[in-house]
Amino acid sequence: MAFSKNNHFKFVLLIFLYSLKKSSSFGNHSSIDGLLLFAPKHVTIFNTLATRAKLVVHCMNKKKDLGIKELPIGASFDFRFRVNFRKTITYNCSFEWPEREETFDIFRADRDDNETSPYGVCRECIWYIFESAPCRGKRDGGRSICFSWD
Ligand SMILES: *[C@@H]1O[C@H](CO)[C@@H](O)[C@H](O)[C@H]1NC(C)=O
Ligand SMILES: *[C@@H]1O[C@H](CO)[C@@H](O)[C@H](O)[C@H]1NC(C)=O
Ligand SMILES: *[C@@H]1O[C@H](CO)[C@@H](O)[C@H](O)[C@H]1NC(C)=O
Repeated sequence: MAFSKNNHFKFVLLIFLYSLKKSSSFGNHSSIDGLLLFAPKHVTIFNTLATRAKLVVHCMNKKKDLGIKELPIGASFDFRFRVNFRKTITYNCSFEWPEREETFDIFRADRDDNETSPYGVCRECIWYIFESAPCRGKRDGGRSICFSWD
């Protein structure tokens, strides 16, 4: 009796492991990114101002202030985090350069970690900051998209 119960358990475990392996090798990893819970994200912000001015970036979310970063032309600042369970996480930033100050939500789960968002999912979210617009490129492929300042 105990023997067959044990065998039954092993069988169920095997089926479970098999389906787990199947689902993880299924299709393109990046295409399931937006469906993952706690998806890891890496946001990088580049100073690409045409005037080559220094860019002062200050990003934060509700709980964390990432501090004030001074970026010479071409320099970048990056941070990593995981999307929260409810997918409500947002990082906003202020961008300052001579005579201008703009704000923009550099990461929004509804825009950047959403399969049905017109902008697609980014895991490596690379931002190029121009005077006219912040533009998001993807290290994992796809063309870059420019947004308007807030
Ligand atoms: C997987 O994703 C990469 C990058 O987004 C893309 O270039 C490639 O064509 C995709 N492959 C399949 C099988 O969808
Ligand atoms: C960013 O969000 C925080 C709270 O999450 C808020 O206090 C702050 O004013 C916002 N900053 C900008 C530049 O919108
Ligand atoms: C995903 O994007 C679509 C289209 O912009 C939007 O309607 C939907 O509310 C977003 N979903 C989430 C979970 O934010």
